[in-house]
Amino acid sequence: MQPLSITTTKLCKSVPYGDGARAILSDVSLNVRASSITALIGRSGAGKSTLLRCLNGLDTIDSGEISIAPKSETQQRLDVAMIFQAYTLLSRSTVLQNVCLTITLQGTTLTDAHTQKAMQLLAEVGLSDKANAYPSELSGGQRQRVAIARALMLDPGLLLCDELTSALDPKTTVEILALLKRVNKDHGVTIILVTHDMDVVKEVADTVCVMDNGYIVEQGSVIDVLIKPKHAVTRQLIDATTGGALPAFISDRIQANQAPNADVVLKLIFTEESSTKPIIAAVATTFNVCFSIIAGSLDNLSDQHANHMFGHLWVSCTPNDKLEAAIHYMTDHGVGVETLGYIVWE
Ligand SMILES: Nc1ncnc2c1ncn2[C@@H]1O[C@H](COP(=O)(O)OP(=O)(O)O)[C@@H](O)[C@H]1O
Ligand SMILES: [Mg+2]
Repeated sequence: MQPLSITTTKLCKSVPYGDGARAILSDVSLNVRASSITALIGRSGAGKSTLLRCLNGLDTIDSGEISIAPKSETQQRLDVAMIFQAYTLLSRSTVLQNVCLTITLQGTTLTDAHTQKAMQLLAEVGLSDKANAYPSELSGGQRQRVAIARALMLDPGLLLCDELTSALDPKTTVEILALLKRVNKDHGVTIILVTHDMDVVKEVADTVCVMDNGYIVEQGSVIDVLIKPKHAVTRQLIDATTGGALPAFISDRIQANQAPNADVVLKLIFTEESSTKPIIAAVATTFNVCFSIIAGSLDNLSDQHANHMFGHLWVSCTPNDKLEAAIHYMTDHGVGVETLGYIVWE
């Protein structure tokens, strides 16, 4: 199966609610390139799982269009595989039988070729020695590996993963995400991954789509969205992960209104490209805007990206009439700038 691309146009879905209806998905227009890893991120209840189920045909839409390309002879359902947070393995079947389940569920009789293929997939996910084990004998990470092998049995062109790593510890999460990247590369399969964790996005995705309240509020390359988050929810999700947030003893003192003697507080976001230029020095000499550094952090992006590092720097300065020009200068030179508010230093 070749990798599939998927486009949705203005998907809407609502559910009955009291006398009326409640919107779950509103005008969802999503673009997923073939062979990409797209992360679908948002807070709990945003509509991510519902959208995945609609893409897979497990749930119906009220209006809009879903188009998957290239169209194939076989049923669309078979070209799209799905993995959930709950491992959904049969407890009384062995690992090998679980991997072959997709074949037997279709009513196809298992052949030696199927078994061989299942064994090869188990080798790929590092579980050759567990073929005859039962799910209860496996760790959470190992069960998720079985689920991945099973999903690959029918050579899907699109793999949908719903909170695949949410129940796993950080180390196992990194291992499973590495496996997904390998599967994406070796099998050329397009992956859509639902998560509420920006660290997962940074680790594995090349494109990200942010959902809130049934809407897509932001969509773009991971690096662009991380550097220039447009929506408040995106900023919250970024801040919730390590390095995103300002220490509370400072953020608690930042005010929206400018008091006399107040300094303005900015958050600067550097990429590899902008971090090698003397931008802060240039701003000081050209615009007479001198920054005090409040806090800083460095972050790492997955090796799918051209830029590997990016950093946050929180600074304050006495506002002057050139501040706006200084901010323009910085954004022109690839630095993301967010004005957080005002602070009075005692
Ligand atoms: N079948 C359903 N009937 C009623 N409400 C539903 C149904 N499915 C989902 N919802 C509601 O739709 C919203 C989105 O749910 P979901 O897609 O599970 O969000 P997420 O996966 O982003 O946490 C939630 O408020 C949820 O309660
Ligand atoms: Mg969900």
